[in-house]
Amino acid sequence: MVFFLINLIILLTVITVIIILIQGAIYVPSSNKAIETIITLSEVKKGDRVADLGSGDGRIVIEFAKKGAKVTGFEINPLLVLISRINMRKKRLEGNAVIYWKSYWGTDLSKFNIVTVFGIDYIMKRLKKKLKKELKPGSKLLINIFPFPNWEYIHKENGVYLYKI
Ligand SMILES: C[S@@+](CC[C@H](N)C(=O)[O-])C[C@H]1O[C@@H](n2cnc3c(N)ncnc32)[C@H](O)[C@@H]1O
Repeated sequence: MVFFLINLIILLTVITVIIILIQGAIYVPSSNKAIETIITLSEVKKGDRVADLGSGDGRIVIEFAKKGAKVTGFEINPLLVLISRINMRKKRLEGNAVIYWKSYWGTDLSKFNIVTVFGIDYIMKRLKKKLKKELKPGSKLLINIFPFPNWEYIHKENGVYLYKI
C-alpha cells in the first residue's frame, strides 16, 4: 500500500512538472537585483496596470503594488498562489494586487500597460505574438533572462530586457 502511494505521488509530481513545462517555465525565482531592475526600467507610476505572467512567489507583484500600480499575477502552481496571497496579506497590499490561479495563455491581456515575464526560450515566440496582438501601443515589457526572438529590445540590464509595443 505504502509502495503504491509513493509511486502515485511520484507519478502525479512528474505529470505536474510536465504540464508546467509545456505551459511555460518551472519555478525559478528572479534575483532581488533583477526585480529591482524590472521596477526601475518599467518607470512604473501610480495607476499603471501591471501583469506578472507566472508570478511565482509574488515578490514582483508585491514590489509593483508598493509603487501604487494595480497589479495582477497569473500563476498555475497552486502552492505558489497560496504563498503569494499570504505574503500580500501580510503587507496589506490586497487592494492593489491580485493573484489568479490560472494560465496566462487563455487570458486577454489588453488592459495591462506593463507586463513582466520570466519564461523560458521555447515559449517566447508564441508569447511575442500574443503580446503584440493584445497590448496597446506604448505598453512596456520587462523580460527576465530569455528575450523574444527577432525583436530588437530597447535596453538590457542585469539580465532584464526592456521592450515597447
Ligand atoms: C521562472 S518562474 C518566475 C517566477 C517569478 N515571476 C519570478 O520572476 O520570481 C516562472 C513561473 O511561471 C509559472 N508558470 C509557467 N507557465 C505558466 C502559465 N502558462 N500560466 C501561469 N503561470 C505559469 C511557473 O509555475 C513559475 O512559477
